[in-house]
Amino acid sequence: MILRPRRLRKNPIIRELVAETRLSRNMFVYPLFLVPGKNQKNPIGSLEGQFHFSPDKVLSEIEECLKLGLNTFLLFGAGEPKFEDARSAYYSHSVVQEGLKSIKSQFGKDVFLITDVCTCAYTTHGHCGIIQNGDVDNDLTLEVLSKMALAHARAGADMVAPSDMMDGRIGSIREDLDKEHFEDIGIMAYSIKFSSAYYGPFRDAAGSAPEFGDRKTYQMDFRNGREALKEADLDEQQGADILMVKPAMAYLDIIKDLSQSTLLPVAAYNVSGEYAMVKAAAAAGLVDEEKLVMENMYALARAGASIIISYHSKDILSNQWIKS
Ligand code: PBG
Ligand code: ZN
Repeated sequence: MILRPRRLRKNPIIRELVAETRLSRNMFVYPLFLVPGKNQKNPIGSLEGQFHFSPDKVLSEIEECLKLGLNTFLLFGAGEPKFEDARSAYYSHSVVQEGLKSIKSQFGKDVFLITDVCTCAYTTHGHCGIIQNGDVDNDLTLEVLSKMALAHARAGADMVAPSDMMDGRIGSIREDLDKEHFEDIGIMAYSIKFSSAYYGPFRDAAGSAPEFGDRKTYQMDFRNGREALKEADLDEQQGADILMVKPAMAYLDIIKDLSQSTLLPVAAYNVSGEYAMVKAAAAAGLVDEEKLVMENMYALARAGASIIISYHSKDILSNQWIKS
């Protein structure tokens, strides 16, 4: 026998040498949930190991992360008063804006802050837009999303991440940011966001579950891979800087197709339900948490994601799960 693939698996050194996929700490983004108030760090019931932080209290969390080499965060707001028109999303004193100001005044350019732009945590009905005649009205929603993105930019966001899935939102936000000379504020588009059961724990954490109906008129049908690429293409044409696929593990084919069809960086969002499943299985003693998490992370990178947004990020770095 001449061909013996096992030669390249003989010991850890040769396995490291021939490894096709590598992870580095700077590809990880850590989601953080902000709530109004002072001195608050409260465990999120649906997301074991994750917390709601007030804008003052989040500083010590960020300091810990920076020591681990984790410097990029995706910020969400929860617990603000809700309105039909989501106006609490773009007040200058809303919790995400306060968080941005507080984090930026403490850490400046040492941190990179991305903000989720969507109305669902700020609307009485929990939808990702403004309701007209029983459904989300696309173009009315665009105005609100722009106001929210601008409020984030003014408060110090480095990048905004619209997660609503309205048509035309990237172009409209880009135009409005540019009008106020925020040309350097990037857009990470939740381009390929599927209507998914994997968002359950997040909706608890953000208080953003829809009160009626579902999100199927705006989030994508998970049966569609070609349409996914069309969505990404539209966002790219409208000025997106990074394209995201969400959820991650059930959509490796989409991540791969997208990474082969775009020249933009591709991010994978390893969402709340995926995290919760791993945590539950590990807690039940069914799997080894470190091994399962790292297998998943390598799968995302192998599929073509160069950016990974994950609730596991801090565990991965603090436990040194990236070995080499
Ligand atoms: C809000 C938003 C959601 C997530 C990110 N931004 C939930 C949703 O669309 O219902 C999901 C994140 C996660 O599950 O971790 N539009
Ligand atoms: Zn939303």
